[in-house]
Amino acid sequence: MVARQGYFITLEGVDGAGKSSHIASIADCLRQHAPALVVTREPGGTPAGEQLRDMLLHQAMHQDTELLLMFAARCEHLRTVISPALARGDWVLCDRFTDATYAYQGGGRGLDDARIGELEQWVQLGTQPDLTLLFDVPLEVARARRSSAREPDRFEAQAEAFFERTRQAYLRRAAAAPGRIRIIDASRSMEEVGASVVAVLTERLQSWQ
Ligand code: TMP
Repeated sequence: MVARQGYFITLEGVDGAGKSSHIASIADCLRQHAPALVVTREPGGTPAGEQLRDMLLHQAMHQDTELLLMFAARCEHLRTVISPALARGDWVLCDRFTDATYAYQGGGRGLDDARIGELEQWVQLGTQPDLTLLFDVPLEVARARRSSAREPDRFEAQAEAFFERTRQAYLRRAAAAPGRIRIIDASRSMEEVGASVVAVLTERLQSWQ
């Protein structure tokens, strides 16, 4: 019997929204239903992608170069990890994907959505997440949650206005695709956010049975 294509779930939100604190419990919840689960992240998820991540987070570069490198990392990730996993019937949980490019490079940096769309079409060949959880918080909450224990990377070091544009771009994408992108109010306590995440996943998992 040929395995059906697996489900592709992504997590999004501005830096400091708190999504990383929930990845392990989301993965546990999905594992109860998935034949196998691949947990990965962008930029990164492959040896080449992790090197590109290091460059993207720390090396100054032109914003067009940044956009191309995000998609270069994504191309490697899709061709060698995500697409083969989905084709085997595995499910994939990815910490950030192309919504982050529309939010950060489109909203934050002000790059043209149409250009991002061209790269998306070329690199993704139609692959899109089945479900995206958008962890949304007001900027002052995100700022307070961002770690001050280490030097901020190139994105964390951006001004508040950058994050406001990024957040608004995420919210516009959610409004345009309400079936795929579910907004989680992440300004609440860990327990409350966790309960909302479980509620959204449970509802979606029922429809996937
Ligand atoms: P992380 O902190 O969630 O691991 O993500 C690394 C940073 O990369 C984060 O600040 C958002 C940024 N990013 C983009 O700017 N565009 C993208 O397409 C992706 C995937 C991440």
